[in-house]
Amino acid sequence: MTFRKDFLWGGATAANQCEGAYNLDGRGLANVDLCPVGKDREAVITGKMKMLDFDDDHFYPAKNSIDMYHRYKEDIALFAEMGFKVYRFSIAWTRIFPLGDEETPNEEGLKFYENLIDECLKYGIEPLITLVHFDFPMHLANEYGGWRNRKTIEFYAKFVRTIMERFKGKVRYYLNFNEMNVLMAAPFMGAGLYFEEGENPREAQYLAAHHELVASARAKQIAKEVDPNIMIGCMLAAGKYYPATCKPEDILAAQEEDRNNYFFVDVQSRGYYPSYMVKKLEREGIMPEVTEEDKKLLRENTIDFISFSYYTTRTISADKNTELEEANLIATVDNPYLGKTDWGWQIDPLGFRTTINDIYDRYQKPLFVVENGLGAYDKPDENGYVEDDYRINYLRDHIKAMRDAVELDGADILGYTTWGPIDLVSAGTGEMTKRYGFIYVDRDDYGNGTLKRSKKKSFDWYKKVIASNGEDLD
Ligand code: BG6
Repeated sequence: MTFRKDFLWGGATAANQCEGAYNLDGRGLANVDLCPVGKDREAVITGKMKMLDFDDDHFYPAKNSIDMYHRYKEDIALFAEMGFKVYRFSIAWTRIFPLGDEETPNEEGLKFYENLIDECLKYGIEPLITLVHFDFPMHLANEYGGWRNRKTIEFYAKFVRTIMERFKGKVRYYLNFNEMNVLMAAPFMGAGLYFEEGENPREAQYLAAHHELVASARAKQIAKEVDPNIMIGCMLAAGKYYPATCKPEDILAAQEEDRNNYFFVDVQSRGYYPSYMVKKLEREGIMPEVTEEDKKLLRENTIDFISFSYYTTRTISADKNTELEEANLIATVDNPYLGKTDWGWQIDPLGFRTTINDIYDRYQKPLFVVENGLGAYDKPDENGYVEDDYRINYLRDHIKAMRDAVELDGADILGYTTWGPIDLVSAGTGEMTKRYGFIYVDRDDYGNGTLKRSKKKSFDWYKKVIASNGEDLD
């Protein structure tokens, strides 16, 4: 058998993309609530257009999402039917600390996640908690300047301790932040960061990144104090960069882009800033202050495993005039060897294997693939059934590539969770019609629909994959 006997197969979601109930039971306002669907979304998520409160001109899909807040029992039962060994979900920070700087947590929020965890455990499903999946309390963003402010580290630490103490003995796997590197491409959605007149955005972003990195080390420190059984990982939006040609300048450009991403993992895995980033930030005059205490914390609290999402590779040319296309918030040069999804993301299963190998070679720590999947238009019949062979094909090719990375290259992988096992709101576009699920949800981009859940063809396929521990992919 290729995969570990205890390989964790399952699916992954994020609070704001599925829970809804944005203002129930004491939950506070978060950046992710304020990202509308439609033409202004990009400007909002990148911090170019300030959206500090709801207005009447936009539709905000996270307000209700797919209402998992009220339907989690039904949804987890469906995950269990597929044989999930693990369910990755995130905790909405503002359900626990609605403003972010309170002394005591909101019991109703804790109770919700306790029930959700117990529901998973009832079926033998291991919970994998993302402590922060893009969300950030708006009160902290407005009153403190968000992650720019060093104080945020301690607000986060308090949130983390509250969660780990409350769920001690029930939850073993944690991720400190989802895709920290998204902070660079989408600072508002990724970290609640918006910019002031005259501010250098890159300076603010790297300062915020530094505070998140120190906060991650704090999370590991807290985990060790609370429960030594906890395994805590970092999370990277992965996908290798290819050089557009074998011209040395293109090779260097690809290396630089890879480093821009690996930087976040380098710090968390090795415990110090890599020299290439120190040089670069010093050159730009934006190196954040790294105190002696920060250095010690980082050095002594490295992560236990490395998790990442993989959707696509990207291609780069040193020639700045080369035409670029959008791909999961970050642009790429067209790669003529690859097909594309309905949203124009390049499909590259072999690139998945190369990416896994790259990360494993670089860090030599266990890996966890916590997102992979195909966002596509689905056409349900009158019963909500979707013949989604395109999704099955995508996943089959990627799982095969992952199998090769284990069997032929020797990577150590703990588990694999597909993105959005149940249709949910897209992070990049805010659409519902960009569907990833094995389970169809009757809801459109503007909140119309019954929210009824129904199984797609891929539901039974994935069930078979899990039952055979990844051997039967037909
Ligand atoms: C990852 C995020 O980058 O990509 C998820 O962690 C997101 O939150 C996923 O949903 C897919 O992207 P999108 O834009 O298709 O939702």
